[in-house]
Amino acid sequence: MANPTFAAIDVGTTKVCTVVGELGAGNEIRILGVGVGPSAGLTKGMVDNIHAAMEAIASSIDRAERASGTRILSVHVGIAGPHVSSMNSRGIVAIADPRHPITEHDVERAKESARIVNIPNNREVIHVIPRYYVVDGQDHVVDPVGMFGSRLDVETHVVTAGSSAMHNLMQCVEGAGVRIDSLILQPLASAEAVITPEELEQGVALIDIGGGTTDLAVYLQGAVVHSAVLPVGGVHMTRDLVIALRVPQPAAEQTKRRYGHAIPSLVDEADDVEIDAFGSEGRKTVRRRLIAEVLQARTEELFEMVRAELRRGAQEELLSAGVVLTGGAASLPGIELLAEDVLGLPARIGRPRHLAGLSDLLHDPAYATSVGLLRWSLKEQEILLRSSPLLPAPSLGGLVRKVAHLMRVVLPQ
Ligand SMILES: Nc1ncnc2c1ncn2[C@@H]1O[C@H](COP(=O)(O)OP(=O)(O)OP(=O)(O)O)[C@@H](O)[C@H]1O
Ligand SMILES: [Mg+2]
Repeated sequence: MANPTFAAIDVGTTKVCTVVGELGAGNEIRILGVGVGPSAGLTKGMVDNIHAAMEAIASSIDRAERASGTRILSVHVGIAGPHVSSMNSRGIVAIADPRHPITEHDVERAKESARIVNIPNNREVIHVIPRYYVVDGQDHVVDPVGMFGSRLDVETHVVTAGSSAMHNLMQCVEGAGVRIDSLILQPLASAEAVITPEELEQGVALIDIGGGTTDLAVYLQGAVVHSAVLPVGGVHMTRDLVIALRVPQPAAEQTKRRYGHAIPSLVDEADDVEIDAFGSEGRKTVRRRLIAEVLQARTEELFEMVRAELRRGAQEELLSAGVVLTGGAASLPGIELLAEDVLGLPARIGRPRHLAGLSDLLHDPAYATSVGLLRWSLKEQEILLRSSPLLPAPSLGGLVRKVAHLMRVVLPQ
């Protein structure tokens, strides 16, 4: 039987990217097709024009279908925006008959109990991620299925989203003609694509600097402990250049990408560049160091916000592996040096790894979320398949249905 194929869509503030892929050999993802186009109708990661966003999504899906020669029926969708928040919650259940080993069903019950957190009725739970289990007081159990005990606790990371922002996004995706398999918090997806198992274990923060938002996910001992979305990104860096240099937005964007740097002292003081500008001349000469100074100010402010967020969870000193920067704005030269300076932690740039097939474009940090969404969905499916022999009879029907459904997400054209 052919490998099941999946589709994921990253609806970003500046671009929409749909990827179709399947699990390859080992840990690899084989990319069958990618469809990227400019985004529309989104500000700071949130939909503010349903019609424009729907069209941008439909066009990205159409391109991915052509590239992969498949028909996309359903997708895994990334979600972000300042409306997202997270907390840690513990679920506790009693095991009815301690003479029988703990089942997958007991684990589900424990997770359900962790989900019952006090949230306002204008918010919805999008993830309940188990961090570790406790069986009769034995701490940090990774997988309790098959163990004996009379009480099972699960420590989880719960992510909630604002109902209206979430439904606006869903409306756009469904309006573009596909079903939604799941909503996945964007930084959790990005982490799947760029962070190594060693970094996860030793403590690391993923920082995805996109166009409209900077998304954060903090991992300790292999599990997520904190996630957040900050409303600042590359779009704000470009806007600062528009104001400081008095140039049109497209010229500022091009200048940032071509001549930008996050550390002014590393740019030759005598280096001048000529760029498009407002005014009678239409062109102007600008010092490259000035461009770097403008970008440094905004990026430094951004890392200070990140530092405050890390301090809030008192996690900063536990991050032995430091931070991994990804997202489109992580391509700004020198940004990892500035991150190390402001955060006082090791920093590196994260690019999507373990890709095969039509994946050339996707090795760029801007595609961490798209690749991560795909990896997340493949992992979910793998867990389902792997765990099937352990499931009690009543859940098996549901599992088979779910796997069957997962296999029907794309059709050959
Ligand atoms: N070489 C570069 N130097 C600096 N910035 C860059 C470079 N290349 C891309 N960017 C910036 O990256 C940003 C886009 O990143 P990305 O594609 O990750 O965002 P997005 O996913 O569309 O948005 P978001 O995740 O915030 O909703 C843009 O602001 C762009 O200017
Ligand atoms: Mg993004």
